[in-house]
Amino acid sequence: MPVSVLLGLQWGDEGKGKVVDVLGDRVDVVARFQGGPNAGHTIIIGGQKYVLHQIPSGIFRPGVRNIIGNGVVINPAVLLQEIRGLEAKGVDVRSHLYISTRCHLILPSHVHLDKLSEQRKGQAKIGSTLRGIGPTYRDKYGREGLRMGDVLTPRFAEKLDTLQTAHYEYLHALGYAADRAADTQAFLEALEALKAYTITDTEVLLHKALAQQQHILAEGAQGTLLDVEFGAYPFVTSSNTTAGGACTGLGIPPSAITQVYGVFKAYCTRVGSGPFPTELDNAQGEAIRQAGGEFGATTGRPRRTGWLDLPALKYACSLNGVTHLVMTKADVLAGMDHVEVCVGYELNGRVQDYPPFDSEGALKPVYRSFPGWPGFGPDDALPVSFRQYLDFIEAELGQAITFVSMGPDRKEMVQLVA
Ligand code: IMP
Repeated sequence: MPVSVLLGLQWGDEGKGKVVDVLGDRVDVVARFQGGPNAGHTIIIGGQKYVLHQIPSGIFRPGVRNIIGNGVVINPAVLLQEIRGLEAKGVDVRSHLYISTRCHLILPSHVHLDKLSEQRKGQAKIGSTLRGIGPTYRDKYGREGLRMGDVLTPRFAEKLDTLQTAHYEYLHALGYAADRAADTQAFLEALEALKAYTITDTEVLLHKALAQQQHILAEGAQGTLLDVEFGAYPFVTSSNTTAGGACTGLGIPPSAITQVYGVFKAYCTRVGSGPFPTELDNAQGEAIRQAGGEFGATTGRPRRTGWLDLPALKYACSLNGVTHLVMTKADVLAGMDHVEVCVGYELNGRVQDYPPFDSEGALKPVYRSFPGWPGFGPDDALPVSFRQYLDFIEAELGQAITFVSMGPDRKEMVQLVA
């Protein structure tokens, strides 16, 4: 049985959570492979809204095992709060959540370091979610981090003390006030409570699932254009959001991946700083923001909005080997009299068809205009003008769009091809 990877093709917030939830009835395991509480995956079931930050989006499907893979970084207090929130709504988390022993831990001091780093950058800040993501991955790759499994070993207190001492000395030296004792107490209490959940070598669990021909869905967070390798560095997150991240972030071989679902919105959004060639910093952009409810699920920040960027989308499809395209939020552009699509970038007098290494300069998008479309529901025929929009995108990307989502609910999605 295959591993399907599902990831975002833009700057995150493509509506991945909903798609994972919909596909959840076809899979045995859902496994998150990177990122951490910077993510906010929104799922609406029967009018009830849930926002998941670290827990995989298969948690609402009875019988589906949900894995927080080794590539994810965990904030214990945030995870505990998320678990308790779901349990209070009657979701059975305990019997089908599995946390990797190899997940790195976000310490309270990592969150302080993230804040301090952004403060010191001033205008040049990344626009981080301030969840401690960058500093935690920095310690991971610097081989100084602490992992979930360490909590169960006798030397944990000593390792924690060493790492914290380094962090707080640095913070205090730069005049950042942080209360180490209070931070440590809250951190340890949350870790203690998490011991009641399954902390295990999830890569082995996944290997067994593969041997039993089970269907695994690897769930990505953020989006391809925020990948630490291929996004507009340094305006990226600190993990591999692309398909390769599913292998390293879960411990599964590339040969096991048979399907890659690439999710993209009918337009673009971005939170935080960094290049955004098709940004609409005007009334049109505001209209899309309001219609699409484009405010961060994690931070509440207004998202920047803009037209669909095809060169970036093509690049994302190539990086990930996308086999199935999923367009979301088609309803948001409904009722507009025209929509535009970027088909290339003018850079130094030449047209380039993929995102440039440094796109902060005088990059000008080249647009093609399309008529708008009326609103439609999952049981309606696709409006002709919307079909034209899809046809153009499919021709440019060289592949069909499998699903179109036209609303937040599970039911508001149509499958166009098998
Ligand atoms: P960090 O991952 O919190 O360090 O933030 C780095 C960049 O990624 C910032 O521009 C964030 O706004 C962006 N980012 C991080 N997580 C998400 C997400 O889940 N959705 C959209 N943007 C995100």
